[in-house]
Amino acid sequence: MEIRRLSPALGSEVVGVDVTRVDDAGFAALRAAWLDAGGLLVLRDQRLSPEQHLAFSRRFGPLFGEAEQLQRSVEPYLLPGHPGVYRVSNKVRDGVPQGRARAGAYWHSDVSFRERPAMASLLHAIELPPRGGDTLFNSMHTAYEALSPALQALLRGLHAVHDFAVADRSSWGQVRISDGDLDGENRCLHPVVITHPETGRKALFVNPGFTSHLDGFSAEESKGLLQLLYRLAIREEFQYRHVWSPRDLLVWDNRSVMHHAVVDYEGVGERYLHRTTTIAARPAA
Ligand code: SIN
Repeated sequence: MEIRRLSPALGSEVVGVDVTRVDDAGFAALRAAWLDAGGLLVLRDQRLSPEQHLAFSRRFGPLFGEAEQLQRSVEPYLLPGHPGVYRVSNKVRDGVPQGRARAGAYWHSDVSFRERPAMASLLHAIELPPRGGDTLFNSMHTAYEALSPALQALLRGLHAVHDFAVADRSSWGQVRISDGDLDGENRCLHPVVITHPETGRKALFVNPGFTSHLDGFSAEESKGLLQLLYRLAIREEFQYRHVWSPRDLLVWDNRSVMHHAVVDYEGVGERYLHRTTTIAARPAA
């Protein structure tokens, strides 16, 4: 197995590994490389059936769709017979969408609106357009570490409300919210700065996709402070931009990383990927 860093802030590429065949020592090495790379691994040339994708994902922990349901509006996009696999795609066959189109086309950390949000997300590229459809990843560790000590100290005492209802606004109406999505389990409070339970590194944990407001602040104060944090967090120097190749498997850590799908391929070609998502412990300050 060969590991190569992809950008100063985050990300490592791994070649020469077949994730369907890694033993426990190999998996421990991959997991260590993942944490060492700030929570982003690019595993090249993985030929995975849905069952193999699920089996590898379960090694990171229990999955949304299996151990716990995701929000209702995701259901039409789950792979029939495999509720742990979420389909991301602009393909439509006989009028039926083959996955969620424009999924994640805004900065977010997966499922941050749950008390136990996403830990690892594993996205496998099955069909790609001839150009476009990149995914941006920003390190929320480096974003936090670059703040002044005074702002870090202020943020460490704060909490934010995360609410799936915000996705409707942040996705320009692309995320359709079902009635059952707003029943309370898709809204919760998290610390604004979390400590990674495995590395001890601190990270900013707010995102434009799902964070509604800062607890205890007026609407204007909350909006102003959150906008400042987003502007500081999405700086290019904290970023890795992934240009997909067929059969890439990306594994990112939602406790460390915020991501954004670039939807610039409408009318250019079809994009079809499978995502599995593991469930984290409740984030702690
Ligand atoms: C997602 O947010 O999981 C989708 C990312 C992508 O399609 O690149």
